[in-house]
Amino acid sequence: MEQQRILCVGLVCLDIINVVDKYPEEDSDSRCLSQRWQRGGNASNSCTVLSLLGAPCAFMGSLSAGPVADFIMADFLRRGVDVSAVVWQDEGQTPCACCVVCPSSGSRTVVLSDTNLPDVTAEDFSKVDLRQYKWIHWEGRNADEQLKMIQGVMMHNSTLPPDQQITVSVEIEKTRESLYQLFPLGDVVFVSKDVARHFGFDSAAAALRGLYRRVKQGAVLICAWAEEGADALGPDGTLVHSDAFPPETLVDTLGAGDTFNAAVIYKLSTGGHLKSALTFGCRVAGRKCGFHGYDGLRDQFRDE
Ligand code: ADP
Ligand code: FRU
Repeated sequence: MEQQRILCVGLVCLDIINVVDKYPEEDSDSRCLSQRWQRGGNASNSCTVLSLLGAPCAFMGSLSAGPVADFIMADFLRRGVDVSAVVWQDEGQTPCACCVVCPSSGSRTVVLSDTNLPDVTAEDFSKVDLRQYKWIHWEGRNADEQLKMIQGVMMHNSTLPPDQQITVSVEIEKTRESLYQLFPLGDVVFVSKDVARHFGFDSAAAALRGLYRRVKQGAVLICAWAEEGADALGPDGTLVHSDAFPPETLVDTLGAGDTFNAAVIYKLSTGGHLKSALTFGCRVAGRKCGFHGYDGLRDQFRDE
């Protein structure tokens, strides 16, 4: 049998990225340093990083046929990401984000247009042959449907011995009430700084201690905190921390979180321990912040 893949379910969009020397004033008219198109979306970016780390991976999300989808598909292909689970929608537009990346401050500002393309449903997901996958990661979006998808995986897992079961991870990045129902569904749960702050926590450690009661028994809860690195809490109650690995020069933080998630998943899925996975996540994400896009990760972390 072919090596089992990691499947990431969530958003793919077009990122139109403007690199600026200074974040523009509202209602001003300025020139950027450079501009590029890039395939974006959290789950899609995580696939990019997984493939650069050498992990067979697949993407599942919605697209609408047209020139933007052509660009996106060509890029998935270039990266060797399996796209057989992509759902082609008859109506709606492929999402597009205008991004402003400002190396002098390290900021990345995103305005996403994601208005009318239907999301992948549990029915779409039921057509997926789960035997291909060893790990499925959900970027929290249409949580009511995603919950049903994950229940499908749990059913599938219940027929298998533990060492053949699919590991489920979820990312809760946005402060949306409906997403919080994903907390008890992941074996590994990534919660963002934004969500942590929304719940009133001012550090990753405090957030993990405060939110751990929401995850299922035996799960790992992980919280990344930009320049401060990331923390994780597993079933043994020990808090694990990794400092960030800042690049020599900060260049592009767009997708740092998606890079971190991918690197952590990669490490855990290849048998790494929590501490080494967290450190690896911060190393890869830190490295990514030192150049534009993702190409600079190529061959950097293979065999690790
Ligand atoms: P995002 O805002 O893209 O979701 P996070 O702020 O959650 O990203 O950061 C994810 C990881 O990326 C952090 O744990 C850290 O390791 C790395 N990272 C992000 N920003 C920086 C930075 N300015 N310097 C070094 N590492 C960073
Ligand atoms: C980065 C990213 C971008 C996209 C935006 C969507 O994490 O996935 O590629 O434009 O977030 O929220």
